[in-house]
Amino acid sequence: MIPFSLGEWLLADMQQSVSKAAPGALRRYRSVYEGIRKAILSRRMSAGIRLPSSRALAEELGVSRNTVVAAFDQLLAEGYVTAATGSGTYVSDIGRGENIRPKPVRLHRGPALSARGRRIVAAPGGNTHEIQPFVPGMDDFSVFPSKIWQRLQNKYWRESPPELLDYAAAGGYQPLRRTIANYLSISRSVRVAAEQVLITAGTQQSLHLCAQLLASPGELAWVEDPGYWAARKVFEACDLTLRPIAVDAEGIHPAAADLATSPRLIYVTPSHHYPTSAVMSLPRRQGLLDLAAGKGAWILEDDYDSEFRYSGRPLSSLQGLDSHDCVIYLGTFSKILYPGIKLGYLVVPADLAESFKTSLYDTQRPGQVMLQAALADFIEQGHFATHVRKVRQVYGERRESLVRVLQSILGRHAKLSKEASGMHLVIELPDAASDLHIAAEAAKQGLVVRALSSYYLGQPQRRGLVVGYAYVPTERIQHFGSLLGNIVKKALR
Ligand SMILES: Cc1ncc(COP(=O)(O)O)c(C=O)c1O
Repeated sequence: MIPFSLGEWLLADMQQSVSKAAPGALRRYRSVYEGIRKAILSRRMSAGIRLPSSRALAEELGVSRNTVVAAFDQLLAEGYVTAATGSGTYVSDIGRGENIRPKPVRLHRGPALSARGRRIVAAPGGNTHEIQPFVPGMDDFSVFPSKIWQRLQNKYWRESPPELLDYAAAGGYQPLRRTIANYLSISRSVRVAAEQVLITAGTQQSLHLCAQLLASPGELAWVEDPGYWAARKVFEACDLTLRPIAVDAEGIHPAAADLATSPRLIYVTPSHHYPTSAVMSLPRRQGLLDLAAGKGAWILEDDYDSEFRYSGRPLSSLQGLDSHDCVIYLGTFSKILYPGIKLGYLVVPADLAESFKTSLYDTQRPGQVMLQAALADFIEQGHFATHVRKVRQVYGERRESLVRVLQSILGRHAKLSKEASGMHLVIELPDAASDLHIAAEAAKQGLVVRALSSYYLGQPQRRGLVVGYAYVPTERIQHFGSLLGNIVKKALR
């Protein structure tokens, strides 16, 4: 066997060094270090072998002695070699091939994802994120007062107070909690004190907290059908059993068979049902509150878009009617400001506030206090109210133009959802129509509308197209609206 020469091995290795991109000295150091490490791991140098002196190796390789010393030091620190004072450097035991090389093991891994994981990814909801005319849920960012927003944030960044760079403890930035409590009690008749408000990273996180804290695995969550797919995902991720509950023109409408079950959570969008736009009637609200109280269920009221109201006043919140403390109210800034802000809030009954705060902090470790401070100023200085007015005016015009053009083309062939609110409307189609087919036809023309049937968990009961108008510039509504209207008309013939 040819005796192993570390110097020759390293020289050969340095020719094809993995570190060619590094600058000269660093590259030489990495080559020496990696070469020796490789020789040890591959058992070309076994335990107990003495390394050449750093001086001799440096000369043989034509590099500086410092380079070799640095490589030896690193190998020493990582345990590949040991140094005995005065007597040199030796390959250590831990560097033995048999210790490092994995023993042959029979893998028993099974599927990579858990059963829950497989359920979560089985029907992806929104990772094809299209920005196209009529895509539901998309706002028009050009309406957002970004200059004012930037100025408010800059003010805090200039000062960078340490408490705003820390994690968000105690339910969020106190002045923001206060100002949200104020806003909700005035504009949504929510019965709330600042202590009941928690700032979250949006509705998704709020729902997650509620599901984790209030429901045990296997318990039942009633969800509206059709309904918001992302809420269902959260409940599935918390191992809850979903029960789809029908929705009609007055909101959620449990059948006798549903009433025989005992939900732990009831998720609803009473102000503006997602996606049909139905507003829950007062008798239904009263009925749902009584039902929840009687069954010991929690109602999760998702009030995601109540700011978008183009005529009249909205019905006040369900939470405001609740005398049993069984409603958790959820709001978000994703729609009215911009989705990436990822700030929302929860209003919980006073006796649950501490538990929610603890859970939020311990399981999520929230942050973004600086952003929360800028948002508190944005609201307190009146910019939020101005923005809401502007959005109502701009989106209201867009809605009106779209309704006009669709009605003129579709006439009696299709009905439009009548609620003048939100960021989308629904073109209600006859039962025999294939909304999936029409949505696919529209996509060929670059229009992203969603089939109402795709929002059902159970058997689809109605057909329609969910059409977002907020993102389409006012001057283009006529053009895209007539394109869509004609696609629908053709399909219905
Ligand atoms: C019904 C509903 N709730 C809430 C939200 C907002 O969610 P988040 O605050 O997690 O962005 C949306 C967004 O599309 C929604 O459609």
